[in-house]
Amino acid sequence: MKGLFVNACVREKSRTLELCREYVKKHWDGEEISEFVLKENALEPFNAQMLQQRDADIFAGDLTSVRYDCARDFADADEILIGAPFWDCSFPAMLKVYLEHVCVNGITFGYGNDGTPLRLCKAKKLVYITTAGGYIGSPNSLELYLKELCAMFGIQELQIYKAEGLDIVGNDTEAILEETLKNL
Ligand SMILES: Cc1cc2nc3c(=O)[nH]c(=O)nc-3n(C[C@H](O)[C@H](O)[C@H](O)COP(=O)(O)O)c2cc1C
Repeated sequence: MKGLFVNACVREKSRTLELCREYVKKHWDGEEISEFVLKENALEPFNAQMLQQRDADIFAGDLTSVRYDCARDFADADEILIGAPFWDCSFPAMLKVYLEHVCVNGITFGYGNDGTPLRLCKAKKLVYITTAGGYIGSPNSLELYLKELCAMFGIQELQIYKAEGLDIVGNDTEAILEETLKNL
Protein backbone atom coordinates (compact mmCIF):
# COMPACT_ATOMS: atom_id res chain seq x y z
CA MET A 1 0.00 0.00 0.00
CA LYS A 2 1.35 3.38 -1.00
CA GLY A 3 0.18 6.14 1.35
CA LEU A 4 0.51 9.80 0.49
CA PHE A 5 0.36 12.27 3.36
CA VAL A 6 -0.27 15.83 2.20
CA ASN A 7 0.83 17.93 5.15
CA ALA A 8 -0.78 21.38 5.03
CA CYS A 9 -0.11 22.18 8.68
CA VAL A 10 1.54 25.48 9.45
CA ARG A 11 2.22 26.03 13.14
CA GLU A 12 5.20 24.62 15.00
CA LYS A 13 2.98 22.78 17.49
CA SER A 14 0.13 22.01 15.13
CA ARG A 15 -2.66 20.04 16.72
CA THR A 16 -3.81 18.93 13.29
CA LEU A 17 -0.36 17.49 12.63
CA GLU A 18 -0.46 15.65 15.96
CA LEU A 19 -3.67 13.91 14.86
CA CYS A 20 -2.22 13.13 11.43
CA ARG A 21 0.90 11.55 12.92
CA GLU A 22 -1.35 9.32 15.06
CA TYR A 23 -3.43 8.36 12.02
CA VAL A 24 -0.31 7.37 10.12
CA LYS A 25 1.00 5.36 13.07
CA LYS A 26 -2.32 3.58 13.54
CA HIS A 27 -3.24 2.85 9.91
CA TRP A 28 -0.09 2.98 7.80
CA ASP A 29 2.45 1.27 10.00
CA GLY A 30 4.91 -0.65 7.81
CA GLU A 31 3.46 0.77 4.59
CA GLU A 32 5.28 2.75 1.93
CA ILE A 33 4.57 6.36 2.89
CA SER A 34 5.51 9.62 1.26
CA GLU A 35 4.86 12.96 2.89
CA PHE A 36 4.53 16.19 0.96
CA VAL A 37 5.06 19.12 3.31
CA LEU A 38 3.44 22.14 1.71
CA LYS A 39 5.19 24.80 3.79
CA GLU A 40 8.55 23.42 2.67
CA ASN A 41 7.59 23.07 -0.99
CA ALA A 42 6.17 26.40 -2.06
CA LEU A 43 4.11 25.75 -5.16
CA GLU A 44 3.42 28.69 -7.41
CA PRO A 45 -0.20 29.71 -7.87
CA PHE A 46 -1.22 29.36 -11.50
CA ASN A 47 -0.70 32.36 -13.76
CA ALA A 48 -1.54 32.74 -17.46
CA GLN A 49 1.85 31.52 -18.64
CA MET A 50 1.68 28.37 -16.50
CA LEU A 51 -1.83 27.61 -17.73
CA GLN A 52 -0.70 28.05 -21.32
CA GLN A 53 2.23 25.69 -20.75
CA ARG A 54 -0.04 23.11 -19.18
CA ASP A 55 -2.58 23.32 -22.00
CA ALA A 56 0.26 22.89 -24.52
CA ASP A 57 1.59 19.82 -22.65
CA ILE A 58 -1.90 18.30 -22.49
CA PHE A 59 -2.41 18.99 -26.21
CA ALA A 60 0.97 17.39 -26.99
CA GLY A 61 0.08 14.42 -24.79
CA ASP A 62 3.32 14.88 -22.84
CA LEU A 63 2.80 15.14 -19.09
CA THR A 64 6.20 13.78 -18.11
CA SER A 65 7.58 17.10 -16.83
CA VAL A 66 8.41 17.54 -13.13
CA ARG A 67 5.70 20.22 -13.21
CA TYR A 68 3.23 17.35 -12.88
CA ASP A 69 4.98 15.43 -10.11
CA CYS A 70 2.32 16.36 -7.53
CA ALA A 71 -0.48 15.20 -9.79
CA ARG A 72 1.31 11.95 -10.67
CA ASP A 73 2.07 11.14 -7.01
CA PHE A 74 -1.54 11.89 -6.08
CA ALA A 75 -2.94 9.70 -8.88
CA ASP A 76 -0.58 6.90 -7.97
CA ALA A 77 -1.26 6.68 -4.22
CA ASP A 78 -3.40 3.87 -2.83
CA GLU A 79 -4.60 5.99 0.06
CA ILE A 80 -4.32 9.71 0.67
CA LEU A 81 -4.29 11.63 3.92
CA ILE A 82 -4.65 15.41 3.87
CA GLY A 83 -4.06 17.26 7.13
CA ALA A 84 -4.92 20.95 7.32
CA PRO A 85 -6.04 23.36 10.04
CA PHE A 86 -9.46 24.99 9.59
CA TRP A 87 -8.69 28.49 8.39
CA ASP A 88 -11.25 31.07 7.39
CA CYS A 89 -13.97 28.51 6.74
CA SER A 90 -11.68 26.18 4.77
CA PHE A 91 -7.90 25.64 4.88
CA PRO A 92 -4.60 27.45 4.24
CA ALA A 93 -4.24 28.82 0.70
CA MET A 94 -1.19 26.65 0.01
CA LEU A 95 -3.47 23.60 0.04
CA LYS A 96 -5.72 25.14 -2.61
CA VAL A 97 -2.65 25.83 -4.75
CA TYR A 98 -1.51 22.23 -4.23
CA LEU A 99 -4.92 20.89 -5.29
CA GLU A 100 -4.84 23.06 -8.40
CA HIS A 101 -1.50 21.44 -9.26
CA VAL A 102 -3.06 18.04 -8.66
CA CYS A 103 -6.04 18.65 -10.96
CA VAL A 104 -4.35 17.83 -14.26
CA ASN A 105 -6.49 16.65 -17.15
CA GLY A 106 -4.89 13.38 -18.23
CA ILE A 107 -3.34 12.51 -14.86
CA THR A 108 -5.89 12.67 -12.05
CA PHE A 109 -9.00 12.99 -14.20
CA GLY A 110 -9.82 13.16 -17.88
CA TYR A 111 -12.43 12.81 -20.58
CA GLY A 112 -13.02 9.95 -23.02
CA ASN A 113 -13.46 10.56 -26.75
CA ASP A 114 -17.20 10.93 -26.26
CA GLY A 115 -16.71 13.37 -23.41
CA THR A 116 -17.35 10.84 -20.65
CA PRO A 117 -15.49 11.85 -17.49
CA LEU A 118 -12.58 9.55 -16.62
CA ARG A 119 -11.55 9.14 -13.02
CA LEU A 120 -7.88 8.43 -13.00
CA CYS A 121 -6.80 8.25 -9.35
CA LYS A 122 -5.94 4.84 -7.93
CA ALA A 123 -6.86 5.66 -4.34
CA LYS A 124 -10.03 4.14 -2.94
CA LYS A 125 -10.00 6.40 0.10
CA LEU A 126 -9.14 9.97 1.01
CA VAL A 127 -8.84 10.87 4.68
CA TYR A 128 -9.02 14.53 5.68
CA ILE A 129 -8.03 15.63 9.17
CA THR A 130 -8.64 19.11 10.50
CA THR A 131 -8.87 20.97 13.78
CA ALA A 132 -10.90 24.12 14.35
CA GLY A 133 -10.91 26.86 16.93
CA GLY A 134 -14.70 27.03 16.76
CA TYR A 135 -17.33 24.79 15.20
CA ILE A 136 -17.38 23.98 11.51
CA GLY A 137 -21.11 23.55 11.16
CA SER A 138 -23.07 21.54 8.66
CA PRO A 139 -23.51 21.83 5.75
CA ASN A 140 -20.22 23.57 5.00
CA SER A 141 -18.38 24.38 1.81
CA LEU A 142 -15.24 22.50 2.88
CA GLU A 143 -16.94 19.10 2.94
CA LEU A 144 -18.81 19.83 -0.28
CA TYR A 145 -15.56 20.80 -2.00
CA LEU A 146 -13.78 17.64 -0.81
CA LYS A 147 -16.72 15.48 -1.94
CA GLU A 148 -16.68 17.05 -5.39
CA LEU A 149 -12.93 16.60 -5.74
CA CYS A 150 -13.20 12.92 -4.76
CA ALA A 151 -15.97 12.42 -7.31
CA MET A 152 -13.83 14.03 -10.02
CA PHE A 153 -10.81 11.86 -9.13
CA GLY A 154 -12.83 8.66 -8.69
CA ILE A 155 -11.98 8.27 -5.00
CA GLN A 156 -14.94 6.41 -3.59
CA GLU A 157 -14.52 6.95 0.13
CA LEU A 158 -14.02 10.27 1.87
CA GLN A 159 -13.43 10.15 5.60
CA ILE A 160 -13.27 13.43 7.49
CA TYR A 161 -12.02 13.71 11.07
CA LYS A 162 -12.38 17.01 12.88
CA ALA A 163 -11.57 18.22 16.35
CA GLU A 164 -13.64 21.34 16.98
CA GLY A 165 -13.98 24.06 19.56
CA LEU A 166 -10.30 23.98 20.48
CA ASP A 167 -9.94 27.74 20.95
CA ILE A 168 -13.14 28.28 22.89
CA VAL A 169 -12.43 29.46 26.41
CA GLY A 170 -13.61 26.90 28.92
CA ASN A 171 -13.39 23.94 26.52
CA ASP A 172 -11.13 21.07 27.54
CA THR A 173 -8.81 21.05 24.53
CA GLU A 174 -6.92 17.94 25.60
CA ALA A 175 -10.15 15.98 26.11
CA ILE A 176 -11.45 17.00 22.66
CA LEU A 177 -8.18 15.96 21.00
CA GLU A 178 -8.13 12.69 22.98
CA GLU A 179 -11.68 11.89 21.83
CA THR A 180 -10.77 12.57 18.20
CA LEU A 181 -7.63 10.43 18.54
CA LYS A 182 -9.72 7.55 19.82
CA ASN A 183 -11.96 7.72 16.77
CA LEU A 184 -9.20 7.89 14.16
C1 LIG B 1 -5.40 32.24 9.92
C2 LIG B 1 -6.35 31.48 10.82
C3 LIG B 1 -7.68 31.38 10.46
C4 LIG B 1 -8.57 30.68 11.28
N1 LIG B 1 -9.88 30.60 10.90
C5 LIG B 1 -10.75 29.90 11.67
C6 LIG B 1 -12.13 29.76 11.29
O1 LIG B 1 -12.58 30.26 10.26
N2 LIG B 1 -12.95 29.07 12.10
C7 LIG B 1 -12.51 28.46 13.26
O2 LIG B 1 -13.29 27.80 13.93
N3 LIG B 1 -11.20 28.56 13.64
C8 LIG B 1 -10.32 29.26 12.88
N4 LIG B 1 -9.00 29.37 13.27
C9 LIG B 1 -8.52 28.63 14.45
C10 LIG B 1 -7.91 27.28 14.05
O3 LIG B 1 -8.82 26.53 13.29
C11 LIG B 1 -7.49 26.42 15.23
O4 LIG B 1 -6.69 27.11 16.13
C12 LIG B 1 -6.80 25.14 14.77
O5 LIG B 1 -6.82 24.17 15.77
C13 LIG B 1 -5.36 25.41 14.35
O6 LIG B 1 -4.78 24.20 13.96
P1 LIG B 1 -3.26 23.84 14.27
O7 LIG B 1 -3.10 23.66 15.77
O8 LIG B 1 -3.03 22.57 13.52
O9 LIG B 1 -2.43 24.96 13.75
C14 LIG B 1 -8.11 30.07 12.47
C15 LIG B 1 -6.76 30.18 12.81
C16 LIG B 1 -5.88 30.89 12.01
C17 LIG B 1 -4.42 31.00 12.41
